[in-house]
Formats: sequence, C-alpha cells, structure tokens
Amino acid sequence: MKSAIIYYSDYKNNTEKIAKLFAEKIGADLIKIKNINDINIKNYKLIGFGSGVYRESMSPKIFKLVDNLSLKDKNVFVFSTSGVGMKFYNNKLIKRLVLKGAINKGSFACKGSFIAEEFTNNKIFDFMGKLSQGHPNDQDFRKAEKFITDILKRNSL
Ligand SMILES: Cc1cc2nc3c(=O)[nH]c(=O)nc-3n(C[C@H](O)[C@H](O)[C@H](O)COP(=O)(O)O)c2cc1C
Repeated sequence: MKSAIIYYSDYKNNTEKIAKLFAEKIGADLIKIKNINDINIKNYKLIGFGSGVYRESMSPKIFKLVDNLSLKDKNVFVFSTSGVGMKFYNNKLIKRLVLKGAINKGSFACKGSFIAEEFTNNKIFDFMGKLSQGHPNDQDFRKAEKFITDILKRNSL
C-alpha cells in the first residue's frame, strides 16, 4: 500500500517544498489541492495533510477536503509552513481528523518565508518576515526528513 501527501500551497510554494520532500522520501503520491475534487484515499496506508498558514489558519480548502473524506482508522499526519513555524497551527486540523476517526501519527511545522508588506500594513509583521527569509532551509529539510522516516519506523509502515 502506498502513502499520499495532500497539500495546499499557493503563496510562495513553501509548503510544496516540504510536501515534495516527504513524497520523494517515502515514494508517496503527491496531491495538490486546487479546487475541491474527489480524491480516492481508500488504498493509502498513511496520508499527510499540509498547508501554509494564512491569517492564523491552515487553508479552508484543506478543512473542506477533510470534511468530505472517510477517514476512519486511517493513519494521518499534519504539516504546515508559516511565518513563525510553530506546530500549534496544526492542532485544529489534527482535532478535525481525529474526530473523523483518523489516527494521528505526528505533527510537523517549519518556517516559510513571507514578505509582510505583501499582505499587511501592520509593522509588527515586518520583523517576523525578515526572520522567515530563506525558509524552508536545509535545516528544515533535514528535520522534515527525520520526521517522516521516524513515522515510518515507529509504525512499521
Ligand atoms: C495572506 C497571508 C497571511 C499569513 N498569515 C500568517 C499568520 O497568521 N501566521 C504566520 O505565522 N504566518 C502567516 N503567513 C506566512 C505564511 O504562513 C508562510 O509564508 C507560508 O510558508 C506560506 O505557505 P505557502 O508558500 O505554501 O503558501 C501569512 C502569509 C500570507 C500570504
């Protein structure tokens, strides 16, 4: 059985870089959400759901997709890239997946570059934006690689 990486990434393709690394590392199908369409997940042993963070939340499109999937007893994990690179942004989606009967196997997050003035006049974000430049970087990729190989090892998948 194969794995799948399902993701939304439309700002600077930061999340896509992590999604591609996961997919290459474990030979998973890479599925980009553009519009909501039918995805057959029946034959996947592990599914990673990822998105950038836009105004404090992962994309509504990934929530909508999850709402339409049968996830009972499915092994899943969640990943995101954001300006701050914190895992707490993943929690809402993890909760939603677990409510649908999925089994959460992990949560990964790293910084993704952004330029504050492209979407806000709030100067607080300028500094955060500067710190995010260059991410995801080599260290983020190494952490992502360790994260995905550990999931497979821990669960004998
Ligand atoms: C409209 C918009 C809103 C954002 N809001 C947040 C936010 O609330 N918190 C944060 O940490 N990063 C925020 N960011 C930064 C993005 O999460 C970051 O650039 C991410 O890597 C984008 O993912 P993508 O390139 O895969 O679309 C925002 C970016 C944009 C464009």
